[in-house]
Amino acid sequence: MICLTVYPTGLLRTAKILAAVCTFIAGILSIFSCHPTTPYYENWPVYKADVWSSSYASLDLIHRENVAKLETAWIFYPDDAPESARPMNSESNPLIIDGILYTTSARSLLYAVDASTGTLLWSFDPFEGGRGGGIKRGVAYWANDDDKRILFTAGDHLFAVNATNGQPIPNFGADGKVSLNEGMRGDPDKISVIPTSPGIVFEDLIILGTEVSELYDAEPGYVRAYHVLTGERVWTFHTVPLPGETGYETWPADAWKYSGGANNWGGLSLDPERSMVFFSTGSPTYDYYGADRKGMNLFGNSVVAVDARTGAYRWHFQTVHHDLWDYDLPAPPNLVTVVHDGKKIDAVAQTSKVGFLYILDRDTGESLFPIEERPVPVSDVPGEEAWPTQPFPLKPAPYARQHLEESDIAFYSQGSHDSLVSVFRSLRYEGLFTPPSVQGTLQFPGSRGGSSWGGAAFDASTGLLYVKSNDSPEIMRLKKMEPESNIRNLSVYRQGESMYQTYCVSCHGKDKNGDEFGNPSLVGLKGRISPEDVLKKIKVGGGKMPGFSSVLQTKQQEEAILAYLFETEGSRSNRETALIEEIHINQQANKEVLLTDTLPKYLNLTAYGHFRDPKGRPGIKPPWGMLHAINLHTGDYAWSVPVGNNPELQTGPEDTGEAGSAGPLVTSGGLVFIAGTRDNHFRAFDKSTGEKLWEIALPGFPNANPSTYRVGKKQFIVLSVGGDEMHPAGSVMAFSLPD
Ligand code: HEC
Repeated sequence: MICLTVYPTGLLRTAKILAAVCTFIAGILSIFSCHPTTPYYENWPVYKADVWSSSYASLDLIHRENVAKLETAWIFYPDDAPESARPMNSESNPLIIDGILYTTSARSLLYAVDASTGTLLWSFDPFEGGRGGGIKRGVAYWANDDDKRILFTAGDHLFAVNATNGQPIPNFGADGKVSLNEGMRGDPDKISVIPTSPGIVFEDLIILGTEVSELYDAEPGYVRAYHVLTGERVWTFHTVPLPGETGYETWPADAWKYSGGANNWGGLSLDPERSMVFFSTGSPTYDYYGADRKGMNLFGNSVVAVDARTGAYRWHFQTVHHDLWDYDLPAPPNLVTVVHDGKKIDAVAQTSKVGFLYILDRDTGESLFPIEERPVPVSDVPGEEAWPTQPFPLKPAPYARQHLEESDIAFYSQGSHDSLVSVFRSLRYEGLFTPPSVQGTLQFPGSRGGSSWGGAAFDASTGLLYVKSNDSPEIMRLKKMEPESNIRNLSVYRQGESMYQTYCVSCHGKDKNGDEFGNPSLVGLKGRISPEDVLKKIKVGGGKMPGFSSVLQTKQQEEAILAYLFETEGSRSNRETALIEEIHINQQANKEVLLTDTLPKYLNLTAYGHFRDPKGRPGIKPPWGMLHAINLHTGDYAWSVPVGNNPELQTGPEDTGEAGSAGPLVTSGGLVFIAGTRDNHFRAFDKSTGEKLWEIALPGFPNANPSTYRVGKKQFIVLSVGGDEMHPAGSVMAFSLPD
């Protein structure tokens, strides 16, 4: 007997019941004469489990009592890293459909793998041998009888690939792909619109958000639907409204011509019965200064509900007005049903970087718990008008720390403490929503605080929602941009930056700050080491640093890496120069000459600069990362525990907790699984108590949400794991119980 469970969107509930019936029948049949190799599937057919983004699986073969025995079942290595690449990581949450696993690698190539053995079935290279790369959190699946398609984005294109053999679908767009730069505001040849999270399938549509620049004159983050058969663009929702559209009045009259962002980069959720799609958006641009976008700026930082068939506006809820902090809503809302005041209510629960959880009625967008608009600090930057109030939900309590006092500052040694305190005192800080300033503002929980793209997992059987939090204070310091003038060495600098991002970033870090594993900071090289010695170090290596002689073969390559490593002589730092160059590129995409050219512009030159001590240790006391279980019926916490550990900085028995972006998976087996911390561990917790029941050290950085599924008698948990020396492209690792 073959018992197939297919989960077309819209039939999910029925499919889950069917699956249960199938299990039952399969059970009965196996008592009689069923063949032992009967394939039986439980799928993970959508990013984050289902169209409601539940990250929940009703699978209990792995449970509280046996999870301690969980072991590696198979490992799939794409081994597709470009030559001499350093360890990379993939954020992909794999799909598993009828025994086949679909995923993208760190380089953004697409793979189909046998889900019970990890054997490669086929692969597809959207870059046709090109370098590839970019963040990809997963793919989408659509099927109609034998026509089965994987829909996924790579670079600025949407692809449709035959799920059976990995061949592009010839009559989808142009030979299987559609340019996402078409139909935006700017010139398609001058812009690059690159989604990071997968789209969601509704009937014959794939609905997609996007990632755009965060600077002045960025593209607006329109949400769009494409026909899965033809690739035709069916509807567009303008997240920066055009004249006449809802929300247009929350901007200056011409802002729709030049303001951008307000993009959905974290993915979408769907209510097939209501034919409504729900998505959340990031901040409008420029992230940290809004003199050219006075107003509330809808639909920035909003949960938005639109008609899935037409893209027509239904409702919105804005979580931050006129954002000046990069407080994007980072993940799709969870579609949940809760009992509130004795009534069963369909709702959406939205996680945030601020640390608030917003629980909104699914039909109206109204909050189930009271929300107060409270006065917040005024901006002192010329031209800026911070919005006077911001919404504060009264329940649930925030899941990240939102306030910092001097007594919260970390103590590693007297010297380190003194330096942190003196930095803290030098900054502007008046609590949550203190605007950025020229003096420097402390931002907490920080744009990497609260929770990130991993989002939350929801267990409908208990009403508990599981979310990871980060407490990561940052410093924002604005600098006024000088009027347009000589921008030196742009291209040389850019080349150096790209070399650095390829060969050096994995050890020396995104901001050249080094890391806690002995890779030194390269900030302030000038005066410490001569350019000649730097070149020698790169060519020859030394200590734990490998040599990169093949990277430095021409004089120009040497100049480029030096330009990037050393601060420029003039008043403008390399970072500033790079930002200005990006602004120019954005401007060129807009055909009109813009009024805003006459307004002052500021740049946040410390964007994403952590509040850390001189040795790079977190500036506040632990815990730095927690996992929470929140009861959505009552808004109360069931439990909170630290996730991740830094043994070097640990002072007591408690784990320190670690920051991390990835999110949890919850199962009917009573378990919550989560990875994503820099200690490279994967863990399982008891979903009722938060007790840690299992953990495993992995060979690389597991910066992804896990998936689970069943093939035959086995339940598997799978996770994308970052690369190591042997396999820089990383792997997909599957875990199961021993036979
Ligand atoms: C595998 C990790 C790794 C990679 C990749 C790596 N480095 Fe290093 N780097 C190190 C370590 C470890 C040291 C300290 C070595 C020592 O103790 O001699 C170092 C030292 C340096 C130094 C000397 C710093 C000082 O203050 O003395 C420079 C400059 C440097 N690296 C530049 C680079 C550049 C440029 C790249 C990319 C082309 C790169 N590194 C790639 C690990 C790495």
